[in-house]
Amino acid sequence: MKSLIITSTLSVYDSIEDLPQDVLELMEKAFEAREKAYAPYSKFKVGAAVLLDNDEIITGSNQENASYPAGLCAERTAIFYAGAKYPDARFQKIAISAKSLNHRLVTPIPPCGSCRQAIAEYEVKQESPIEIFFMGETGKVVKANSLKELLPLVFDNTYL
Ligand code: THU
Repeated sequence: MKSLIITSTLSVYDSIEDLPQDVLELMEKAFEAREKAYAPYSKFKVGAAVLLDNDEIITGSNQENASYPAGLCAERTAIFYAGAKYPDARFQKIAISAKSLNHRLVTPIPPCGSCRQAIAEYEVKQESPIEIFFMGETGKVVKANSLKELLPLVFDNTYL
């Protein structure tokens, strides 16, 4: 038996003010989208903004449902719409911000497992990495240079 050690490398910015200008603007789009979330059940609002290689920015927010599993996360709302609207565009960067209506969220909130799997599909499709920036309402921002840093041992179409 051998141990397999898997490592990830992430970058941490102390605040949005330390972000490059284009990412700061993308995160501000995620903030705007976050405020449009429909989250009456969790009171946890998430916004996502995707920058495409055609310079378009597509945003999304979480959309909940009385039948809980029928709801959708902000990240997948955004990337599925981006894929539907611009099927040939590449995703360059995704900015994500979450806010709780119950307490001040200062912890960076990473995309859930299903959203990571969905983002992975587009990295495979476009054959290039997608930068992912995530944060809470305020505070530190975490950057992953690729979805692979967030989802080691990803399941993709090479296994099919
Ligand atoms: N949520 C997102 O929008 N993105 C994530 O990556 C994590 C969770 C949403 C789903 C649900 O509406 C609420 O946050 C609480 O889980």
